[in-house]
Amino acid sequence: MKHPNLHVVILAAGRGTRMRSSQPKVLQPLGGRPMLAHVLDTAQALSPAATHVVVGHGADAVKARFAEAPVHWVLQNEQRGTGHAVQQALPGIPDDARVLILYGDVPLLTRQTLGALVDADGPALLSVVLPDPSGYGRILRDEDGAVSAIVEHKDANPQQLSIDETNTGVMAARASRLKDWLSRVNSDNAQGEVYLTDVVELAVGDGRTVEVVQASDPEEVAGVNDRAQLAAAERVLQRRCATALLDAGVTLLDPARFDQRGRVSVGEDVVIDINVILEGDVELGDGVEIGPNCVIRNARIGDGTIVHAQTVIEDAEVGPSCQIGPFARLRPGTVLVGDNRIGNFVETKKARLEQGAKAGHLAYLGDASIGKRVNVSAGVITCNYDGANKHQTVVGDDAFLGTDSQLVAPVRIGARAYIAAGSTITRNAPDDALTICRARGQKSIPGWRKPKKDPTPQ
Ligand code: UD1
Ligand code: CA
Repeated sequence: MKHPNLHVVILAAGRGTRMRSSQPKVLQPLGGRPMLAHVLDTAQALSPAATHVVVGHGADAVKARFAEAPVHWVLQNEQRGTGHAVQQALPGIPDDARVLILYGDVPLLTRQTLGALVDADGPALLSVVLPDPSGYGRILRDEDGAVSAIVEHKDANPQQLSIDETNTGVMAARASRLKDWLSRVNSDNAQGEVYLTDVVELAVGDGRTVEVVQASDPEEVAGVNDRAQLAAAERVLQRRCATALLDAGVTLLDPARFDQRGRVSVGEDVVIDINVILEGDVELGDGVEIGPNCVIRNARIGDGTIVHAQTVIEDAEVGPSCQIGPFARLRPGTVLVGDNRIGNFVETKKARLEQGAKAGHLAYLGDASIGKRVNVSAGVITCNYDGANKHQTVVGDDAFLGTDSQLVAPVRIGARAYIAAGSTITRNAPDDALTICRARGQKSIPGWRKPKKDPTPQ
C-alpha cells in the first residue's frame, strides 16, 4: 500500500501531566519501545511521502531518541491546541497532499483501520462509540445522519453530552483545505485553544461532506494519558503479540502470561511456558522449548534447544540441541555452538563453548574459549579480571576441568588436559597431562575432636 501523495502528521507536543513523569509522554515504553515508535511504525506502514512529528514538551529528548527516524520534526513552542499544532506542520506540506493526522499518545491504531481514511476523497475522520464517552469530543450529526460538527466535552450541552459517538482525533483532509479551515478557526472555547475539531463545522459550512469511519474496536483507538491507560494499552499490545505467535504455530501455555518487548521470529513447534519475557530481537528455532520465568533478550536459539526454568539469556547465540538451566545466566557475548549443556548457577560472559562442551553446575566462564566436549565441573571459575584488565582463558578440546579449579587468566589449558579438583592454575597446562596444584598436601590429624555446641542460648 504505497501513498505517494500522503503526508502523516503526528501530534506529540503535549506534556502528559497525568503520567507524573520526568519523561515526555510519547517516550513512555509500550511493549518495550517508546509509544511514539508504535505510531511511527503505523505511519511508515502506509508508505507516505513524509511523516511530520510535532514536538514541544521534551522536544529535545524525543528528537534524540528518534535521531535515526526518517521524520520531519516540527516544533510547537507553545501548546495552543491540536489545530495550532497541525498549523505548525502545514507549511512543510504541499497543497495537494492528503494529510493524515495521528496522535503520539494513541499507539495501538492499525494500518487497516487507517486505510479507509487515507483513501477517502474529502475530509474524513475516525470515530468510535464508547460506553463511557466522557472527556471526549462528541460527533454531532444532522437529521440525515451526516456529520455537522464536533463539540468538545467541555463545550458540550447536556443533550450533546449524551451522545456516545466520539472523536478519536484521527482525521484526514487535503492540505490546502486544512490550511484554509485552520486559518478560520478561533480559540473562542472553554479551553481557549485552537481546536482541530473545529475544521469539521467549517468544512460542512463550505458544503463538503465529512466522511466518518467508525472504529470497530475501542481498544485500538484508546488514548494513553495516565499510567492506568498505559498499563491497559500494554495488555492489549501483549494480547496481539501472543495471538500473532499462536497464529505462527507457537504453543503458549498461557497467552495472558507472556510478554514480548521487541521482535520475535519463530520456527515450528516452539513451546513457551508461563511468565516468559522476550526482549529486543529474539529468534527461536524449530522445536525450541522455553521453561517458565525465563528472560531472553537479543538472542538466537537453535533448533531443538531447551531452556529450562528461571534462565536469563542476553545478547547470546545458542546453537541447536543445547540444554540450558534451570537457573542459568548467559550474559552478552556468549556463544554456544551446539549440543552444549549449561546447568544451574552457571554464568557465562564473552564465552564460546564449542560443540558438546558442558558446564553442569556452579561455574563462571568469562572471556573464555572452551573446546569441543570439554567438561567443566562444579565450582570452576575463570579468574578473568585482575582488578584492571580482562584476560582470556583458552581450553583445548576434550579437556576435563576438575571440581573447584580456578583458571587464572591469561592461561591456556591443553587438549585432553586433566585439571585436578581444587587446583589454582596460573600457568599454561599441557596437552594430555594431569595438572594438579593444591596449596598443601593433604594431612590427617589423629584424635581431633569436633567442636561442642555452646549450651548457653545466644
Ligand atoms: C482531542 C480532541 C477530542 C478527542 C480526543 C481523543 C481536539 C480539540 N480534541 O482532545 O475531540 O475526542 O482528542 O483522544 O482536538 N497536542 C499538541 N499540541 C497541542 C495540543 C495537543 O501536540 O497544542 C497533542 C497532544 O500531545 C496529544 C494530542 O495532540 O498527543 C491530543 O491532545 P489532547 O490535549 O490530549 O486533546 P484532548 O483534549 O484529549
Ligand atoms: Ca488526550
